[in-house]
Amino acid sequence: MIVVPKLISLTSETLATKTRPDFPILNQDINGHPLIYLDNAASSQKPLQVMNAWRDYYEYDHSNVHRGAHTLSRRATEAYEAAREKVAKFIQARSSDEIIYVRNATEGINLVAYSWGMANLQAGDEIILSVMEHHSNIVPWQFVAEKTGAVLKFVNLTDTEEFDLEHYKSLVSDRTKLVSIVHISNTLGCVNPIAEIIKLAHDYGAKVLIDACQSIPHLPINVQEMDCDWLVASGHKMCAPTGIGFLYGKTEVLNAMPPFMGGGEMISEVYLDHSTYAGLPHKFEAGTPAIGEAIALGAAVDYLTALGMENIHNYEQELINYLMPQLQAIPELKIYGNPNHRAGLAAFSASGFIHAHDMAEMLDQEGIAIRAGHHCTQPLHRYLGVSGSARASVYFYNTKAEIDTFVSSLKEAIAFFLSIDLMQQQEE
Ligand SMILES: Cc1ncc(COP(=O)(O)O)c(C=O)c1O
Repeated sequence: MIVVPKLISLTSETLATKTRPDFPILNQDINGHPLIYLDNAASSQKPLQVMNAWRDYYEYDHSNVHRGAHTLSRRATEAYEAAREKVAKFIQARSSDEIIYVRNATEGINLVAYSWGMANLQAGDEIILSVMEHHSNIVPWQFVAEKTGAVLKFVNLTDTEEFDLEHYKSLVSDRTKLVSIVHISNTLGCVNPIAEIIKLAHDYGAKVLIDACQSIPHLPINVQEMDCDWLVASGHKMCAPTGIGFLYGKTEVLNAMPPFMGGGEMISEVYLDHSTYAGLPHKFEAGTPAIGEAIALGAAVDYLTALGMENIHNYEQELINYLMPQLQAIPELKIYGNPNHRAGLAAFSASGFIHAHDMAEMLDQEGIAIRAGHHCTQPLHRYLGVSGSARASVYFYNTKAEIDTFVSSLKEAIAFFLSIDLMQQQEE
């Protein structure tokens, strides 16, 4: 049975206090210190309610979906399709037919690139991306551009390291056929002006894909209001398991796209020389899907809905507004993106004397998990003139006390590396 917490207005630290018991993984020591998990932008932790939904499915209901005329298959199919309805409602889609299960956002973008891109793009057509895109929103379009002769254009950053809307406006033209943009950057933390981006693209007849990996877990989303043609998200960043995510697409857009992969489930009739295809959403779901994971995604949606996406957003804003001035007060740090306007993540570096990996490893000794590296945004890091950065990212179960510990450990790590740097300079 899926146990969903009652909807209450949760503000301030009550959100963390209420939800913490649902995340047993957070209640452990790492290297002799209580775990402080600040790597949520890479992947969130999973509440018991989600794990129980997955386990219940395998314990009581497992069978293949849409196939058997027996009770278990019916139960599995019902739960699998009910989860799709939940996702549709969560993002305010018109119909659950507009939700295609995929393994992750990367697969969703590849689906659009191969299905829509290969069928609709020609030499000279333009695809607009931005320099802050995740590799998963760059590489598939490079494949398509190579095959079709389409041209990739990239929107730069403003002086405050945010999406440069003016530059975007100068790039959009009648040649633009697709705009594919991240909603919230996983490195800069900026919330991009997608309403204006989408409106302008549509004025020129271009389609728009929104990479919502870093927004869906943290903000209320309404795809109808947004008016994007496609939107992708990964379940594992929103309390669901790995191996499940979804692609939203407008019905008319999805209907006009050819299937991506062929096989079972996606067909209507198969003959030796040709086949006809199933309708939405099954046309894009070839083969046996990740049934338990999809059901657990539904449970994650229930969980987040019960907490309230507004509550989650407000609390994360409180956390990041608490963190940012403390990071800004550390003179050795360069923080990327606009410190005054951002989602719940902060990428920074103390380049020159600390490698991001050394910083992350030192914090790990204190039980603190942060990300180090290029965060799959190598072009952005190159644009910023660094090879990598460290990144702390919060979720609703984090607390201000954890942020205090993180900041004081970070200061200690910097002081330690500074002293080594000084010693080395004296020796030279
Ligand atoms: C903004 C953004 N887009 C896309 C992805 C790719 O997600 P996945 O690896 O789950 O497909 C990520 C993951 O870090 C991300 O942060």
